[in-house]
Amino acid sequence: MTIKYYGHACFGITIGDTNLLFDPFISGNELAKDININDIPCNFMFISHGHADHILDAEAIAKRTNCTVVCNYEIYEWLGKKGVQNIHPMNTGGSWNFPFGKVKCVVAQHSSSLPDGTYGGNPMGFVIEATEGGCFYFSGDTALTLDMQLIPMTCPALDFAILPIGSNFTMDYHDAVIASDFIQCNTIIGCHYDTFGYIKIDHDAAIKAFEEEGKDLILTKIGGELEWG
Ligand code: NI
Ligand code: MN
Repeated sequence: MTIKYYGHACFGITIGDTNLLFDPFISGNELAKDININDIPCNFMFISHGHADHILDAEAIAKRTNCTVVCNYEIYEWLGKKGVQNIHPMNTGGSWNFPFGKVKCVVAQHSSSLPDGTYGGNPMGFVIEATEGGCFYFSGDTALTLDMQLIPMTCPALDFAILPIGSNFTMDYHDAVIASDFIQCNTIIGCHYDTFGYIKIDHDAAIKAFEEEGKDLILTKIGGELEWG
């Protein structure tokens, strides 16, 4: 499994020869100006919720790649009206077996409206049990929530999780340490920090907060890749 960071909350994860893409927001991110959205491979795209900093480049990438978009029902309808062809609607609590693995939609404590003001349904996180390389959780934007405790009760053990740590709009890194207890996973990849003034963080302090609890916080350079497993 290869994990590539495209900035903010956008990750490309390759499972075998299948490219997953999460929450594409690149062209509006000054920190990701060296990434060209036309170079990003995508077979399956995941949208956690409707906010622009998660969906901005979804339409363009979906139309170019003809990928399947996985999102909630309201975003399915919205993208469908824009002419995106392949969309798999899901909702919180639901699971589906895709060729690359099983996806379960889990609770995120946040809000969700689309960039034009359309109702965006509820935000979701995704637990992905890949056919090779392990199981991981992409939380999307969320507060720390007790619902996270359900993940170890209902999903295979997590190998890693991608959690927001920037505060203001989501949980901060202190709450993310507690989240990592709730989900019983000690390897966390941080996201949703530094992009805007409201969410700039001290990287060393964030890493130390995890270290003090015997956990790893990985902060990936934008454009950087991690090999997993
Ligand atoms: Ni959001
Ligand atoms: Mn966001």
